[in-house]
Amino acid sequence: PNLEEMLNSFDFEGVAKSVLKPEAWAYYSSGADDEITLRENHNAFHRLWLKPRVMVDVEKVDMSTTLLGTKTSMPLYITATALGKLGHPDGEKVLTLASAEQDIIQMIPTLASCSFNELVGARAQNQTQWFQLYVNKDRAITEKLVRHAEASGVKGLFITVDAPQLGRREKDMRQKYSADDPEQLIESKAKVTRSQGAARAISTFIDPSLNWNDVKWFRSITKMPILLKGVQTAEDAVLAARHGCQGIVLSNHGGRQLDFAPSGIEILPEVMEALKAEGLDKNFEVYVDGGIRRGTDIFKAIALGAKGVGIGRPALYAMSSYGVDGVVKLVQLLKDELEMVMRLMGTPTVADIKPEMIDMRNIKSH
Ligand code: FNR
Repeated sequence: PNLEEMLNSFDFEGVAKSVLKPEAWAYYSSGADDEITLRENHNAFHRLWLKPRVMVDVEKVDMSTTLLGTKTSMPLYITATALGKLGHPDGEKVLTLASAEQDIIQMIPTLASCSFNELVGARAQNQTQWFQLYVNKDRAITEKLVRHAEASGVKGLFITVDAPQLGRREKDMRQKYSADDPEQLIESKAKVTRSQGAARAISTFIDPSLNWNDVKWFRSITKMPILLKGVQTAEDAVLAARHGCQGIVLSNHGGRQLDFAPSGIEILPEVMEALKAEGLDKNFEVYVDGGIRRGTDIFKAIALGAKGVGIGRPALYAMSSYGVDGVVKLVQLLKDELEMVMRLMGTPTVADIKPEMIDMRNIKSH
């Protein structure tokens, strides 16, 4: 099918499945174990219903917002996903160019296929990039990465905390990662074992001893806002704020780590409540990723307290299918959807989107 036929984010998935090599499809699409969390991530949105308000002047709808101090065209960013060159010869650079065109933020992954310098080098004027960090057992390497990111103009440090060990993604493991040299796909020169899929091949350097005491050290080596990516409970949200982080991403790594971890959107209300109860909700930004596929998903997350949401797989699928044009179209579809939802909900600006517009009767904690 050609690009004009893509009507929503799901459409790109089908195309990607047919154009990707089996090992690339397995790496991108897989989740941990029985993929219960992977499915739940999107399904959880189905339990949240909307309470639309009428008779509001919605002639003009303004989706723009400010994330970590950066103005952006909508409360959506492209999150970090490893190994972009499995899907497209230009790798994550495709996402950089498309983000610039759509004026949204891109989070650069530690395990990008392109070099970090290539991705910051491709940045347009006024474009904002964040950096996702996997903490290396060798902290000197980590320190160098972080300092270099800051010096290169990156505006936020997102430390991944949900992966002290990589989850078992069996679809991926069955493919026995067979790229001639995985090191050609990533900058990192970690030692690899190739018998258990792409994920395991590239992740052996990650430090499982990472703990709360390390936040202070990160604070001492960078002035960038520090956020923890992969917080999954209200308790840890409160601890992150107490330890001086500037925010968190409620995320279960796209269902690729702990199966039966809750979806970010499901725990968002209790997280916001806990932060508020402790007086920690000011100057602390909560993000959500996992299963965001529709404008209504974005709206629901914002209503329940998120500053913004990340998309992972949809961007990879659009990139693999149609390159830059595909990702631009994907984001445009989500923009068009969000604009329509905001109009039909009676919320002309992001600030008008409120918790009371969501019917939460089907959410666990209520
Ligand atoms: C990821 N994710 C991820 N997260 C991270 O912190 N570091 C990484 O290197 C990767 N790599 C990665 C690869 C692939 C193929 C996927 C699908 C995901 C997790 C990612 O940042 C995000 O949490 C999820 O992708 C969000 O869920 P959706 O949008 O894919 O449903």
